[in-house]
Amino acid sequence: MPTRDAPFTISGTREIGRELVELATVGSTNKHAADLLSLSKVQHGAVILAHEQTEGRGQRGRTWSSAAGKDLTFSIVLQPQVLKASGQFMLAKLAALAVHDVVAGQLKWGVGKRDEEVRIKWPNDVLVERRKIAGVLIRTEVQGERVTSAVVGIGLNVNSTELEAELGATSLRLETGREQDREALLSEICLRFEHHLATFRSGDQAWAASYTERLYARGRWADLELDGEPFRARPVDVDEQGRLLVEDEAGEVRAYGHDRLRFLRS
Ligand code: BTN
Repeated sequence: MPTRDAPFTISGTREIGRELVELATVGSTNKHAADLLSLSKVQHGAVILAHEQTEGRGQRGRTWSSAAGKDLTFSIVLQPQVLKASGQFMLAKLAALAVHDVVAGQLKWGVGKRDEEVRIKWPNDVLVERRKIAGVLIRTEVQGERVTSAVVGIGLNVNSTELEAELGATSLRLETGREQDREALLSEICLRFEHHLATFRSGDQAWAASYTERLYARGRWADLELDGEPFRARPVDVDEQGRLLVEDEAGEVRAYGHDRLRFLRS
C-alpha cells in the first residue's frame, strides 16, 4: 500500500464523519464498525475508513475487491432516533444517491462524459452506463419495530485501473482519465449523505424523486430473472421496503424483493 504523509480528515460535515477511524488495513470496514458498535466504542456519525480491505463483503454473500490505497472502502455508523424497521431500505437509497451525486459531479468535468450517464441499479449499485463503479451494503440492528443502529458500507472504485473486466467494473480514474483525490471524495460523499439524510428527516420527498429519476433501466424493457425464470419487465420505482416495482408485459405493476428478482447481466 502506498504510504501517505498525513491522516485523512472529513471536512464540511456536522454529523457524518465528526469521528473518523482510519485504518491501514482491515478485513471489512462493515464488520469492524459492527464490532466497535457492539462494544459501544463508536458513536452516531462515525466513519470507519480502511486503505486496504482484505475480506470486503458485497451483496448476496459476494466479496468486494478493491485495490490497496487506490479506492475508497468505508462504513458510516448510524444510531437513528426514529427509523422503522420496515423503512430501513431508505438508508440504502440515501447512500446510493449520495454516491451517485459525487460520481456524476466528477463526470461532468470528464472528456465526453455527461452526468446523466450515472445510474442507480437496484438494489444498491452505482453504474456509469452499464459499468459498476460503486456498491452499498447495509447492516442493521433492529429491536422490535425500530432500527437501533446501522452500518452503511460504501465501496467506490476510485483510482483502480486493473478491474475485473468480466464483472463490467469501472473506476473514476478510468472514466475521467484523471487521478482522483480520495480524501476529497470521502468528504463529498459524507456531505451529500448528510444532506439527503436531513432532507429525509424533514419529510421533504425531493430526494426520493431524484432517486427515482436516476434508477437504472427505468421505463425501459429489461431482461430480469424472477424465481429463476427469464422475465421481461419495465422498472418503475423502488418502494419503502426496498422492493423493485416493475411493469410486466401484461401491463401489471408488482413489487418484488431481491430474493425473487434480479437483473440478468447484459
Ligand atoms: C456490493 O456488492 O455492491 C456492495 C459492496 C459494498 C462494499 C463496501 S466496501 C466498505 C464496506 N465493507 C465491506 O466489507 N463492504 C462494504
